[in-house]
Amino acid sequence: MAPTASIRMRKVLAAADGAAPPEFPDGVCAVPFVPALHARPAHALLAAAHPDRGESFDEWWTGLSRDAEFDADTFFIAIDAHGGVAGAAICWNVPFVKDIVVAPAWRRRGLGAALMRHAFAWFARRGHQHVDLKVDSGNVDARGLYHRLGMRELPA
Ligand SMILES: CC(C)(COP(=O)(O)OP(=O)(O)OC[C@H]1O[C@@H](n2cnc3c(N)ncnc32)[C@H](O)[C@@H]1OP(=O)(O)O)[C@@H](O)C(=O)NCCC(=O)NCCS
Repeated sequence: MAPTASIRMRKVLAAADGAAPPEFPDGVCAVPFVPALHARPAHALLAAAHPDRGESFDEWWTGLSRDAEFDADTFFIAIDAHGGVAGAAICWNVPFVKDIVVAPAWRRRGLGAALMRHAFAWFARRGHQHVDLKVDSGNVDARGLYHRLGMRELPA
């Protein structure tokens, strides 16, 4: 297997990125993050997508929520018709996407793109010039999505 590296990617924001809220796929909608309702299901999605991380809910939530750059307002989530967390784009209070995950049943329907556009809009409306993230070079699905959203890879 080819060795993987972490690649930093950047979306340069334009006024249009903050102009209109993104459309979400039918059956899901964006809602404010409520830790008591959404933190555990979001962690379950992350743990399933990244079994190598091995963080318990308590370890993850304590580390995240106590971080100086944590802000519940930039923990963007989408829920399904039953209130289940279908996906999350977890950003710091600086324009950086820490994690994005979509439940397997909801993938390839545009939810990942909608969550990213939601984050772009939030930061664009607050005057930020760009949004960054890091992606593993071997994560073909995620890299394809980010390129399609106009993100560019930054030199190492
Ligand atoms: C990466 C991830 C968040 C993408 O979420 P997603 O909801 O599947 O993303 P989208 O549906 O917006 O886009 C994914 C692909 O589906 C395609 N797609 C979107 N709507 C579609 C539809 N209705 N029918 C068919 N394909 C569709 C998109 O064109 C895109 O294709 P591309 O990658 O060739 O551009 C998801 O795969 C995931 O959670 N992976 C595990 C966690 C992870 O790796 N996170 C990233 C860490 S950096």
